[in-house]
Amino acid sequence: MPPEPSATIISKNVTVAYGHITALSDFSVDIPPGIVGLLGPNGAGKSTFIKASLGLLLPDRGQIRIMGLDSRWQGLAVRDMVGYMPEHDCLMDSFTAVELVSYMGQISGMEKKDSVPRSHEMLDFVGLGEERYRPISSYSTGMKQRVKLAQAIVHDPKILFLDEPTNGMDPQGREDMLNLIGKIRESDKSILVSTHILDDLEKVSDHAIIIGDGRMLARGNMETLLAGTENLRVVKVRGAKVRVEAFLGELRNSYEVMSVSEEGGQTSAVIINPGDGNEVFRLCGQCGVQLRAYYPEKPSLEDFFINAVGGGGDGN
Ligand SMILES: Nc1ncnc2c1ncn2[C@@H]1O[C@H](COP(=O)(O)OP(=O)(O)OP(=O)(O)O)[C@@H](O)[C@H]1O
Ligand SMILES: [Mg+2]
Repeated sequence: MPPEPSATIISKNVTVAYGHITALSDFSVDIPPGIVGLLGPNGAGKSTFIKASLGLLLPDRGQIRIMGLDSRWQGLAVRDMVGYMPEHDCLMDSFTAVELVSYMGQISGMEKKDSVPRSHEMLDFVGLGEERYRPISSYSTGMKQRVKLAQAIVHDPKILFLDEPTNGMDPQGREDMLNLIGKIRESDKSILVSTHILDDLEKVSDHAIIIGDGRMLARGNMETLLAGTENLRVVKVRGAKVRVEAFLGELRNSYEVMSVSEEGGQTSAVIINPGDGNEVFRLCGQCGVQLRAYYPEKPSLEDFFINAVGGGGDGN
């Protein structure tokens, strides 16, 4: 597929191995502007892709271009142009947030007289109050995430790489972080957000790239990728084993059954597109099982993967 003319990040056949572990395998993708989610389970290769994009590690094969710059040889120029919020703690603990953020601004070429007021502005933006004058070692995880975001945007980069920005945050903190990401986007920046939380992605991104085992599995706009998953239903039944088995057999004949589980003598099945449910209720009666619950299911990451890889997305 020829690269999209507007792509901000273009990865071509990138392979990265750590010893005998292949973290990225022939990974090719064109990433459009806007907020793009990089979605994949633990160990999928998300952080490796971000580090290779920034020139922080060299691919064994392939090439990544950021706004036309080759991250292998132009890593410094790339890093001036982008902001990076790493996944793990990267903060110098003895610094205060003001010192750290203004120092990061200076590293990116700002003068101290500009970087100090700018860092206050960024810390206001991320919602850090008087704590900004305390050493970072005394911060909660949520506060550290906010400082990590502030240091990533202090030099007003065009492109942002956010690696699991909601990591370790409580629900309110997560909501705040996602709102901040939405606001940053309004200032016409491109943002690549890695996450393994589907919910987070649904809230902020226009487009998602699904990565698993170091490979690009699917990509597309969120609406297309989610198409189908809004029809998931959970049906819970109880009954003699042989009857429940017969019921599951009938369900499989009529619907796509995504998963089956058993807990406390109750069997749950997740099915796709059962319409108004009348047919499912009829099958319960026919097989002699007791219907305990029937409700819409939010897709899990696994459901989303199966759906997207099975045709919901536009593939690679
Ligand atoms: N420094 C390293 N040395 C050896 N193996 C590594 C190293 N970093 C990553 N890996 C391995 O490479 C694979 C991809 O890791 P990566 O950190 O890129 O995944 P991820 O999608 O970011 O996962 P997570 O959601 O856990 O952050 C994993 O199997 C991981 O164990
Ligand atoms: Mg990671």
